[in-house]
Amino acid sequence: MNTLQAQAIDTRRLDLLPLHVEHADEMAAVLSDPALHTFTGGTPDTPQTLRSRYQRMTAGSPDPVISWLNWVIRLRYASCLTGTVQATVSPSGQGLIAEIAWVVGMPWQRRGIATEAARGLVVWLGRQPVHTVIAHIHPDHRASAAVATAAGLVPTDEWHEGETRWRRSIRQQL
Ligand SMILES: CC(C)(COP(=O)(O)OP(=O)(O)OC[C@H]1O[C@@H](n2cnc3c(N)ncnc32)[C@H](O)[C@@H]1OP(=O)(O)O)[C@@H](O)C(=O)NCCC(=O)NCCS
Repeated sequence: MNTLQAQAIDTRRLDLLPLHVEHADEMAAVLSDPALHTFTGGTPDTPQTLRSRYQRMTAGSPDPVISWLNWVIRLRYASCLTGTVQATVSPSGQGLIAEIAWVVGMPWQRRGIATEAARGLVVWLGRQPVHTVIAHIHPDHRASAAVATAAGLVPTDEWHEGETRWRRSIRQQL
């Protein structure tokens, strides 16, 4: 059984909604630009392959101690989806460690959406038994580094598959 479940998270402009398979068609259009894969590799999914991916993601991790938490980012005033955030949560020491990542569709970039979503996610993780948040970011990816910085993460000298490990310790806020 997974240890954590994604819950809706509200920020000033955004609703982070737990990801469902039904989001795949709209998200395939949001994520259709190949430029989104410059630093992470891969190519855009078709609606069909994204539905299959979301089916696997929402089925959960095969390892019962690891939680796969995924949200779509809804821009409230426009009632449209603009990207996703995710957290992979694993046991570590006396609590849990969360690896987080984000993506925002090209038409919605440079409006502070990833920053606002990442901050909201880290605040939510701080209310769970999570003691550390990490992210892996390509050393040339300035936008993602700026998002991580805004969410309170700092770069470490650790590397993971050619990317820098960023980290933030979080105290329980409740
Ligand atoms: C990284 C990403 C999520 C940023 O999304 P975004 O909503 O445009 O980010 P924001 O608007 O919150 O901007 C965050 C910062 O990045 C900067 N930025 C945004 N796009 C940039 C670009 N192309 N080049 C340089 N800086 C950029 C912004 O100016 C801002 O910096 P500031 O806080 O110093 O002003 C988006 O570029 C993306 O989805 N990229 C592809 C997927 C990816 O690589 N994800 C990262 C995996 S860890």
